[in-house]
Amino acid sequence: MKYYFLTLFPGVFHAYFGESMMKRAVDSGVLSFEVIDIREFSENKHRRVDDYPYGGGAGMVMAPGPIARALKSIPNWQSYPVIYLTPGGKPFEQADGAAFAKAEGLIFICGHYEGIDQRVIDAYVTHEVSTGDYVLTGGELPALTMADCIARNLPGFLGNAESLSEESFERGLLEYPQYTRPPVFEEMSVPEVLLSGNHKAIEDWRRAQALAKTRAVRPDLYDAFALETNQ
Ligand code: ADE
Repeated sequence: MKYYFLTLFPGVFHAYFGESMMKRAVDSGVLSFEVIDIREFSENKHRRVDDYPYGGGAGMVMAPGPIARALKSIPNWQSYPVIYLTPGGKPFEQADGAAFAKAEGLIFICGHYEGIDQRVIDAYVTHEVSTGDYVLTGGELPALTMADCIARNLPGFLGNAESLSEESFERGLLEYPQYTRPPVFEEMSVPEVLLSGNHKAIEDWRRAQALAKTRAVRPDLYDAFALETNQ
C-alpha cells in the first residue's frame, strides 16, 4: 500500500508516520507514503493556491490548477482511488477501512479554507469522505484518521497477538471493559469473574457488558445488531 497525501501542511504527515505503529509499518515495508505539497504546483509568483469565491461569500476557495497538477505528478494516478476529505462526504466506517485496504495506492486530497473548486471534484475525485459530523480546519486529520484505520487492515500491520476480530465495530458491538493489575485500584476491585479462570463465564460476562454498553451509548448500533442476530 502506498498513500499519497496532497496538502498545504506536509509536516503533519511526517510527524504522524514517524511514531509508533505507523513508523513500524513504514520501516518494515507494510506501507509507504509520499507527501505532495500543493503549493509547489502554484504558478503564481507569490505561490498562492487560493482565490475569492465566484458569487461572493466568506472565505477563500482552493484553486483547481495547483491541485490538478499535484495530482498528475503521481505516476499512474489514474489507477488509484482519489479521496477528497470533506464534511460533505460519505461517513467513513470500519468496513470502508477494510475495503480501501485492498487498493495498491490511495490518493488523499486535503482541503483548507472554504473548500476546493468543484471542478477538481467533478473531474478527478472518486470518493468524497467525511470522518464525522463536525467541521475541522482542514482535511489533514481526517486523512490521517482514514490512513490509520486502513493500515490496521493491511496484512502484516497488526502482530499475531493483536487482532481485528475482537474489536469494536468488527462484531457490530462496542468493546467490553478491560482491566489489568493491580487487582484493587483506589478501592475499586477488578470484577471477580475475570479472576475466576472460568473462560465460559468470562466470555458471557464480556458479551453482556458489550451489549449493555452498546445499548446505552449507541442505540443505532444496538438495534442493527439485535435485528441481525434476532436478539
Ligand atoms: N474537513 C473538515 N472537516 C472534515 C470532516 N469532518 N471530515 C472530513 N474532512 C473534513
